[in-house]
Amino acid sequence: MSSDLEGVREVLRVAELTKNYGGLKAMDSISFAVNRGEVMALVGDNGAGKSTLVKALSGAQPPDSGQILINGQPIELRSPRDADDAGIGCIHQSLGLVDALNVPENVFLGRELQRKRFGFLPELDHASMRAKTVELLERFGVNVSSLNKPVVKLSGGQRQSIAISRLLLQDVSLVIMDEPMAALGVDEGQRVMDLVSTMRDEGISIFIISHNLEHVFQIADRIAVLKNGRLVDVVETATTSRDAVIKMITFGSAN
Ligand SMILES: Nc1ncnc2c1ncn2[C@@H]1O[C@H](COP(=O)(O)OP(=O)(O)OP(=O)(O)O)[C@@H](O)[C@H]1O
Ligand SMILES: [Mg+2]
Repeated sequence: MSSDLEGVREVLRVAELTKNYGGLKAMDSISFAVNRGEVMALVGDNGAGKSTLVKALSGAQPPDSGQILINGQPIELRSPRDADDAGIGCIHQSLGLVDALNVPENVFLGRELQRKRFGFLPELDHASMRAKTVELLERFGVNVSSLNKPVVKLSGGQRQSIAISRLLLQDVSLVIMDEPMAALGVDEGQRVMDLVSTMRDEGISIFIISHNLEHVFQIADRIAVLKNGRLVDVVETATTSRDAVIKMITFGSAN
């Protein structure tokens, strides 16, 4: 992280983000900010606009209007590549792994390391990719039974961890996760939550969509609630009850 950013507390700010689908406002003037090293959860009923917001932040589908600021700077995210360059890592529910490839191959997918054989013949540097993968997995406390297995043979939690490791290879300051625990068992879900804590400890901000309020209350510093494309409120987890959040999701107000 460059020193001129140290004073900037907000990693992300969105201002009046709006997106229409025909006559339907999927996002209606949404404004909020995510701080450095913070876990913010995004909750809301089906159709509330969560995925629309994530698509705007990942560059997959730009908003009609409004502004996105990264580290205080306005930015236009017109493609996933733009989000990548801005230090925003996104894990979609599909994870984006290639089943037939092994762990290091997936971690380095599209960013393969090369070396020169005999000093001039370019070839894939499998040893370095493997060593870097081991280092990453150790740093984030991820256990994978075998690096050489095709990832289709690994558990859901391990696959999730590999998708995260892939992001951490880049210099990300914000990780967006769309329902990361949805398809996982209790133990595996807990492991992904531990990984989220570790990322936060490293100063990475996390924006996590979840329907599971138990997870949300365990992991999030703050909770943003959406309803019908509108931001109901952003609340501090420590001073909010689960009942209040359920009321906000359902009725658009805690009272
Ligand atoms: N491509 C599209 N064309 C038309 N309407 C869309 C499109 N994508 C989303 N919508 C509508 O926009 C609204 C918000 O959808 P969105 O997918 O963002 O909700 P969500 O909060 O992610 O819901 P879920 O919890 O079901 O994933 C919904 O009413 C949805 O039907
Ligand atoms: Mg969705």
